[in-house]
Amino acid sequence: MSGIGMRGSEGLALTCVGGNALVGNALFRYTDFRAAFTRTFHEGRGGIASWCSTPRVDTLQGPPEDSEMTSTLAFDVYGTLIDTHGVVEALRPLVGEQARAFSMAWRDKQLEYSFRRGLMRNYETFAVCTRQALAHTCLKFQAPLTPEQTGDLLARYRSLPAFADAVEGLTRARAAGFRLFAFSNGCAEAVEDLLRQAGIRDFFLEVVSVDDLKSFKPDPGVYAHFLRRAGVAGGPAWMISGNPFDVIGALSAGMRAAWVQRSPQDLFDPWGIEPTLVVPSLTDLAQGIIAFNR
Ligand code: LAC
Repeated sequence: MSGIGMRGSEGLALTCVGGNALVGNALFRYTDFRAAFTRTFHEGRGGIASWCSTPRVDTLQGPPEDSEMTSTLAFDVYGTLIDTHGVVEALRPLVGEQARAFSMAWRDKQLEYSFRRGLMRNYETFAVCTRQALAHTCLKFQAPLTPEQTGDLLARYRSLPAFADAVEGLTRARAAGFRLFAFSNGCAEAVEDLLRQAGIRDFFLEVVSVDDLKSFKPDPGVYAHFLRRAGVAGGPAWMISGNPFDVIGALSAGMRAAWVQRSPQDLFDPWGIEPTLVVPSLTDLAQGIIAFNR
């Protein structure tokens, strides 16, 4: 096969053939790949190496058109569309003034358990991570709960509210012609129910879950899985997330990513990997992406 050979900062061999770049067994549209490669190469990141570490034979079928890829938006669910701290009021009778701190510790432990289970390849569903994280948080706060209280809190977690900007932001994104997907650590059925009860399910073409792969964000494989399910494998589709780890995970897997920074107090990890776009609310998202794509 003839082509131009290059070697990335990670020692990754690239072969450019016609309009495409061949990396291992994955074929990318060259222009898209070049942009991602250039960014990664200059910033000395390991993104492309990890992006390409999973065999992606299906990308050989060829990527779709640019417009379809750049108009595909993957919305994170917990912490982006849905407010995980919607349980604070229910916690108040149980732990008093510590309700907010308890809720934050519960959420942090839930994510930690998902990261650890992903790394250990010892998968249990996100609902199990949530339940076990609640048990840990009760120990930490010395707040023993009855089985009924635990059951009630977990039921509330399955019907958390949407953030106040969700409906307006999704309405604008849909009106602008974007293809909207929900993409979550949660199982598809749980996320379907959650979005439905929050009144925002119908904005989405599909709910894509990491459960299909029995792994969790930010495993690069789950972002590749999203791209395949959305029919945009190999393309720069957008991840929309309020969770910095998710933004960095998506960027490292070759996606574009918008960080929804709802408060100036929300911090981004100082890794030298910046979001493609930062918006203060979902309401500003569609306009921000349209301006970026211009
Ligand atoms: C999700 C996690 C990040 O919804 O909370 O995927």
